[in-house]
Amino acid sequence: MTRPRIFETITGLRADVEAARRAGRRIAMVPTMGALHEGHLSLVRTAQARADLVIVSIFVNPTQFAPNEDFDAYPRDNDCDIAKLAALGVDAVFLPTVGEMYPKGFATGITVGGPSQDLESVTRPHFFNGVALVVTKLLLAALPDLAIFGEKDYQQLCVIRQFVRDLNIPIEIDGAPTVREADGLAMSSRNRYLSARDREQAALLPAVLRETLQALDAGTTVADALDRGRRRLSDGGFAVDYLELRAADTLAPVDNATRDMRLLVAARLGATRLIDNMGWSRPS
Ligand code: PAF
Repeated sequence: MTRPRIFETITGLRADVEAARRAGRRIAMVPTMGALHEGHLSLVRTAQARADLVIVSIFVNPTQFAPNEDFDAYPRDNDCDIAKLAALGVDAVFLPTVGEMYPKGFATGITVGGPSQDLESVTRPHFFNGVALVVTKLLLAALPDLAIFGEKDYQQLCVIRQFVRDLNIPIEIDGAPTVREADGLAMSSRNRYLSARDREQAALLPAVLRETLQALDAGTTVADALDRGRRRLSDGGFAVDYLELRAADTLAPVDNATRDMRLLVAARLGATRLIDNMGWSRPS
C-alpha cells in the first residue's frame, strides 16, 4: 500500500499536476471535506475508472458554514482519511490550511443564482456562495480534466455545473450516484450526529421518497403526493424543511411538460438535519 503524495500548498499541488499533464495523464479531482465514508470512496473509485491520476482534496471550508452551524464540531480525522485513500491507491491528497485557501487580506466572493435559489438556500442562504468560492479555488488550484461530486448533494451538483459553465472553467463536472446504508439512509458524514433512536427513525426519509415516487407513478397528483409525503415525515418525528419535486437540470418548479425531475427533501431529526433526493421521469 503506497501512501498518497500529500500537498499542503497550491504551488506544490500545481507542480505535481503539471508533471502528470506533461506526461499525458488524464487527471480527476474529488473535492471533499474529509470524514470519509463509503459514499466518498465510491466517488474516488469512479474517478479512478475515468482518469489516470486522482487527487482528493480534504478541506473543511469555513465560507460555507454560517456562524451558528457546525464548522468547529465538523468531524476531522486526516490520518484515518489518508489511510482509507492509501488503501484505494489514490495518487495525491490536497490538504490545505484555511490560511492557504483564504490568506490574510482575501477579499473575493462569488454570488451564484439559478439552481441555488430556494430549497437549501432558504435555511442556509450563505451556503452555495461559499461552496462556489471554494470549489472554484480547488478546481483552479489543480486544473484537473474532470471533477466528481456526489448526487447526494443534488442541488450543490446543479449549482456547481451552473457556475463552471457560466465562468467557462474548462473542467468536466460529473455526478456519481448516492451510496446508501442497508436500510436506505443516504451515507453522510453528519449521520454520526444521530442518536441510536434517531438513526433507526432516519430510514423513514428514503422510504418516504420512494413512496412518493410510487404514488406519482400510480397517477397521484404532484400536490397530493408531496402533501402525503410531508405528513408521513411529520408523523414520523421529522421537522420538514422541504419536500419538493423540481426539474432535474435547473431545479425550477415542474409543470406538465417537465419530463425529468428530482424529488428533494431536507428534514430535521432532533438537532440533525438530513437531506436526500431521488430521480423521477414522467411515464410516457
Ligand atoms: O460536498 C462537500 O463535501 C463540500 O460542499 C465540497 C463540495 C467539498 C465543498 O467544500
